[in-house]
Amino acid sequence: MRSRFAAHLIEQDNPNPFPGIPALERRTGISITTRLGSNECLDAPMQALQDRFGMQFCELARLYGDPECHALRETLAVMNHVDLDEIVVDGGADALISLCLRAFCDPGDKVVCSAGTYPSFGYFARAAGCVIEEVAYHDDGHALQVDLQALLDAVVRNEAKVVYIANPDNPTGSWQGIGDIAEFVTRLPETCTLVLDEAYIDFCEALQPAFGGTLPGCVRLRSLSKAYALAGLRVGYALAAPDILEQLHKVRIHYAVGGLAQYAAQVALDDPRTLATLTEASFIRDALTAHLSNLGFRVLPSGTNFVSLLLPSAQLAQSLVEYLLEQRISVHRPRHPALDRLVRITLCAAALDEPFLSILQETSP
Ligand SMILES: Cc1ncc(COP(=O)(O)O)c(C=O)c1O
Repeated sequence: MRSRFAAHLIEQDNPNPFPGIPALERRTGISITTRLGSNECLDAPMQALQDRFGMQFCELARLYGDPECHALRETLAVMNHVDLDEIVVDGGADALISLCLRAFCDPGDKVVCSAGTYPSFGYFARAAGCVIEEVAYHDDGHALQVDLQALLDAVVRNEAKVVYIANPDNPTGSWQGIGDIAEFVTRLPETCTLVLDEAYIDFCEALQPAFGGTLPGCVRLRSLSKAYALAGLRVGYALAAPDILEQLHKVRIHYAVGGLAQYAAQVALDDPRTLATLTEASFIRDALTAHLSNLGFRVLPSGTNFVSLLLPSAQLAQSLVEYLLEQRISVHRPRHPALDRLVRITLCAAALDEPFLSILQETSP
């Protein structure tokens, strides 16, 4: 019988061979004072790192972290109104996309996404041996919208195992209401899982409050790279029903999120000042959108920390990218032919500075 999960995982258990010392302490109630079992380099002075970053950094860097990310998951569970067994932490949303594909798909399985959406999905899908079926965005004259009905049709037509939606989407910036997504997921066949990538959800006012538990048949992915500014530390998490996470755990790299990253994530999540950046991003997004629209560019509405321009042709988009590059400014143009006339600009103070704005004024339609 066909299942939601990769065939080879269903029958076999694959427990983590190294649950780690924090798990041992939790299970036994004994606090370990002398670690002689995990082959870390315990006596190294780590002088250079200590001089630069201090002793706490060295202690976190020296030791294997908690593979279960227990403390971090406790914080995230409260934030997201879910139970501990409905959360898994991994090395960024990217690692979670890859994890989902490994857990749900066998080589040759079909997966579905929008043509030109966040390309890591296609990259990991190809790496897992999947066949990708793409669906065009719907241009309503204002935004480029993910076409939920077309995605559903493609899932049914191809008997797809996974459908991927980034909500809000990269690189179009558009979003679907969570009610529409919840309805979409109820219409999926039982053997297909929605991988709902919510890396940018914190930036989308229309999707607040962002934290709303799990959806059946769906893995919701979150990233600490964007609103929490930790892209370099690689922390993301997924919210899903325990039976789905049980399968994800069979293929997860247990030490992928180091102790340092877990600790920094905890500090960032605990501090209310962290999300002050959202107000700033929203101000820059509005100001840049208004400015570029006044110059005659088609600026796509965005629920993210970037805005995208849709130029009349791929050549014009490429010329703008090259011209900016000559001024040592990098923006992003997707390679996918469906979206190669799009230019994506990350929101930050520099995006409102001269000379960037004056170059755009020179090149405006
Ligand atoms: C839609 C989307 N998902 C995931 C990621 C990657 O997130 P992370 O850094 O947590 O792997 C990005 C990064 O740009 C993204 O645009």
